[in-house]
Amino acid sequence: MNLPKKAREAQNGSYSPYSKFRVGAALLTEEGEVILGANVENASYGLTCCAERNAFFKAVNEGKRKFKAIAVVGDMDGFCTPCGACRQVMDEFCGKDCEIVLINSKDELKILKMNDLLPFSFNGEHLV
Ligand code: THU
Repeated sequence: MNLPKKAREAQNGSYSPYSKFRVGAALLTEEGEVILGANVENASYGLTCCAERNAFFKAVNEGKRKFKAIAVVGDMDGFCTPCGACRQVMDEFCGKDCEIVLINSKDELKILKMNDLLPFSFNGEHLV
């Protein structure tokens, strides 16, 4: 299964009339299912929700709780690295070895681990 290709497909769901920056995310569950998400903007800009968080919230609402990888793509020369809020949400459901696959406009890949994106995270273990 081609997760980067799925992330590109997910861009079609983007609602981004303000930034015109379409971001797509494809989330791979532990069971091998792929859940897509795209960014949804709002005229009150701060209410915008990123592609990554939309993918996670959709998956979690469908009962998925564990994930192996997420692919993220934006139409840019560089890599669309997840924002801080998305990193915290991702960390809630991803182990430290979960793969974060970033794709640029030339279809080059950069593969990171959850631990690279958010080391020393605050997580559920701090609350027990
Ligand atoms: N955005 C994402 O969806 N994911 C990211 O990783 C970075 C930014 C969205 C939010 C907003 O709709 C647009 O990109 C510009 O910031």
